Amino acid sequence: MQKRSFGKLDYKPSLLGFGAMRFPTIGPDKEVDEKEATKMVRHAIDSGVNYVDTAYNYHGGLSEVIVGRMLKDGYREKVKLATKSPSFLLEKEGDWTKFLDEQLKKIDVEHVDFYLQHALNKERFDLFKELNGHDEAVKAKEDGKIKYFGFSFHDSLEVFKEIIDTYPWDFCQIQLNYFDTDFQAGLEGLKYAAGKGIPVIIMEPLKGGRLAGNLPEDIQAMFDNHPKEWSPVEWALRWVADLPEVALLLSGMSTMEHVLDNLRICSAEDTVANGLSPEDREFLAQVAATWKAKIKVDCTDCRYCMPCPQGVNIPGCFALYNNAAMFGNWKEAARMYKNNFIDRDADASLCIECGICESACPQQLEIIQLLKELHDRFMFELGEL
Ligand SMILES: NC(=O)c1ccc[n+]([C@@H]2O[C@H](COP(=O)([O-])OP(=O)(O)OC[C@H]3O[C@@H](n4cnc5c(N)ncnc54)[C@H](OP(=O)(O)O)[C@@H]3O)[C@@H](O)[C@H]2O)c1
Ligand code: SF4
Ligand code: SF4
Repeated sequence: MQKRSFGKLDYKPSLLGFGAMRFPTIGPDKEVDEKEATKMVRHAIDSGVNYVDTAYNYHGGLSEVIVGRMLKDGYREKVKLATKSPSFLLEKEGDWTKFLDEQLKKIDVEHVDFYLQHALNKERFDLFKELNGHDEAVKAKEDGKIKYFGFSFHDSLEVFKEIIDTYPWDFCQIQLNYFDTDFQAGLEGLKYAAGKGIPVIIMEPLKGGRLAGNLPEDIQAMFDNHPKEWSPVEWALRWVADLPEVALLLSGMSTMEHVLDNLRICSAEDTVANGLSPEDREFLAQVAATWKAKIKVDCTDCRYCMPCPQGVNIPGCFALYNNAAMFGNWKEAARMYKNNFIDRDADASLCIECGICESACPQQLEIIQLLKELHDRFMFELGEL
């Protein structure tokens, strides 16, 4: 496993970190398959992964508990454990410490190594400041409950710079992949933070899986016709690894095959900083440009908008809309929309425009308008508009 450096810290992170947000699930209620997830995480650690990232709200609040259990039997000592303060639940002073104490109990650990203010945007950062959250974080460090304090981020570059410049953060975490170079913090934000000596962790290197499978035919053909026999996943992970400012990349692997594949890619001798040629980088820029022309909604399936109080399956509707746009199979997609969404009371027409989802969406999507558009299009295809 390739190792990187982490700013001034005496810690050599593995290039690949394990994101505990997309564990394998079983049954209609999507319960975590804990046995399989434990096998996957422990295999990754045995193969050199030394960073595991969970959060208060992943898997309906159970990810932390499950991560705590999978890190028993000596695995806790082999990794740095990261979890996050639920910024979206803070209401008053003292809440910050209350949630941390709850999390330490849930995970059943004495301390967390890397603690992040979760999914900061302008509104949440202003509230964090107003509630003196940073003072509570300093105290938690002094008390030995957390070792390092950082933040994860979903807002504009301008807000990112403001947050970086406000406190002496130990590290930060941003979304970055070859498709999203100018989105949110983007490449400029990466360089800005690194330039100030703040280590940067990358999340969503595969855009939540969208750069991995079911690619449009012409995009897949671009990869297939390239003389290098790398899969789209390998290209995407190597693009992140190529950036010298990156401390480590997190992947939310959901099968053992993903774990094995990503371990192989991140252990390859040439998966290193500045490992890609200028032609490789240009190739990926062309792939992104070709692809961007097709996608309707830039949803990463993070599910922060769920559950919708009206039962609308927001990411499900968007995935169907995007698939139809990318593959051109509108009639088939419209039938699926009827069977899987309208008939199951999860379709876009149930939206009452309360706006809860829009304020939770890290991608700042205009969800209400997009839901209207996709519903009209599918109804048109069904001959009912
Ligand atoms: N702090 C925040 O605001 C925030 C937000 C998002 C994520 N995160 C953290 O960052 C982590 C990484 O983000 P992410 O999970 O979105 O990462 P990602 O690597 O972009 O996406 C993960 C998905 O990619 C697919 N995948 C991964 N490896 C693959 C392989 N070798 N072959 C084929 N498909 C593969 C899987 O999709 P399928 O299951 O569809 O096959 C998997 O669920 C998360 O797990 C979480 O810990 C934090
Ligand atoms: S705006 Fe519509 S889709 Fe969003 S949470 Fe409210 S009812 Fe659900
Ligand atoms: S609509 Fe936004 S919050 Fe909901 S899954 Fe998509 S990206 Fe995430």
